[in-house]
Amino acid sequence: MQRIISPSMLSADFGHLERDTHMIDKSAAEWVHIDVMDGVFVPNISFGFPVMKAIRKATSKLLDVHLMIVDPEKYVTRFVEAGAGIVTFHYEATLNAKGCIDMIHQAGAKAGISIKPATSVEVLRDILPMLDLVLVMSVEPGFGGQAFMPEAIDKVAQLRAMIDQLGTNTIIEVDGGISSRNSRLLFDAGAEALVAGSSVFGAANPAAEIENMLQS
Ligand code: DX5
Ligand code: ZN
Repeated sequence: MQRIISPSMLSADFGHLERDTHMIDKSAAEWVHIDVMDGVFVPNISFGFPVMKAIRKATSKLLDVHLMIVDPEKYVTRFVEAGAGIVTFHYEATLNAKGCIDMIHQAGAKAGISIKPATSVEVLRDILPMLDLVLVMSVEPGFGGQAFMPEAIDKVAQLRAMIDQLGTNTIIEVDGGISSRNSRLLFDAGAEALVAGSSVFGAANPAAEIENMLQS
């Protein structure tokens, strides 16, 4: 299975966004994770299109957009137009997941759904064949720098079994509290992509921390 690291730009230095994006661009990370928060779905506000466009200009890597917003169907197409390669929205944020997935695909990107820690992987069984990615949250969405919730490892294993049983190519991504200390457990459980914010941008050598996660 492949191993992908997606550094979360939420932990970058926004006063030096171009510098930090270039640093990720030169690293072994394949994706760049973009956390969009609306202050309604989560109790925090991050950034939107102008910041994402600045990041888009500074890297050719795939932008892995994680929408923590209500009514994502209103915005998914614009995120694809702004350069997203993957658009992931929250299962808990919409009653129209299938419509949202269709809109993302029609706009030309890959579609993902994220589940909060309290949401069971079983809710995804019917829509899994439509999904390119499932993002398992290993913290409550809203803030970087929180402690990893180990229950996420079981969810990854359950999802891996479901994906293998259905025979789909869905990528499992995990987000929250991830570093080289727990990356191996997640890859071994069947994850293929790991998001890492504070562990990368807080490291003395971010590129080495990314390598350490990949080699763990
Ligand atoms: C949390 C975000 C995460 C966050 C991860 O709501 O979805 O992507 O930036 O940050 P760390 O790796 O510090 O937990
Ligand atoms: Zn995220």
